[in-house]
Amino acid sequence: MTLRQAQDERVDAQLAGGSSGPARHVAIIMDGNGRWAKKRLLPRAVGHKRGVDAVREVVRAARHMGLEALTLYAFSSENWKRPEDEISDLMGLLRAFIRSDIEEFAANDVRLKIIGDYKVLPPDIVKLIEDALARTAHNSRTTLAVALNYGSQQEIARAAAAAAAKGAVTVAAIEAELDTADLPPLDLLIRTSGEVRLSNFLLWQAAYAEMWFTDVLWPDFTPGHLREALDHFATRERRYGGR
Ligand code: FPP
Repeated sequence: MTLRQAQDERVDAQLAGGSSGPARHVAIIMDGNGRWAKKRLLPRAVGHKRGVDAVREVVRAARHMGLEALTLYAFSSENWKRPEDEISDLMGLLRAFIRSDIEEFAANDVRLKIIGDYKVLPPDIVKLIEDALARTAHNSRTTLAVALNYGSQQEIARAAAAAAAKGAVTVAAIEAELDTADLPPLDLLIRTSGEVRLSNFLLWQAAYAEMWFTDVLWPDFTPGHLREALDHFATRERRYGGR
């Protein structure tokens, strides 16, 4: 989809309102890896590792369920405040995930996309990411957008500054500069582990999204839970401020 088509569709959808139809773009705040591990007296790193296993299954499910985009909050701009060894575990998992799963994405028409400023990650990971982006750039079935060093307020500020530099600070002009500009509108935002907040994730994009909060801890999240959230979404009537 071109940027222009994405914007036109967003405006059309907002004007039309009415029943939601199937979701096209789902985003997930994957929370609860630490608590999952703690409950089992395991190191946090094991919780994160099981979290990656859940990511793999959910990406496969998103593809089978026909989602056009799945956006996952993997590492926030605030996660740098975590202890160094945990950051290093998360980077190690990210490195291993790209290495092991890129073939599957390439073979199954999955396009990888990154939102956030990933260029400050360790240089070997930046290289792996850029190779994976190039390798899957022409895939079009499902986009897997991974948020890395991502903060929504920073994204909005950057987008507004870019729009201003081009001369117009309008909603459409800011949207066109967001990291998600080439994705369909966000339909459904899921957060696991019982926390009910957005934590600086997709604040702009969530303006008309449905929200689905579940107590399930991320490593226990299965394609069945995604199905449940999508079924719920399909019953919602979205009015975009109208009646
Ligand atoms: C929250 O659990 C989860 C994260 C901080 C990161 C999510 C990361 C992954 C699922 C693994 C890496 C992802 C990819 C795509 C390779 P938490 O540690 O905040 O859990 P807690 O709130 O129970 O302590």
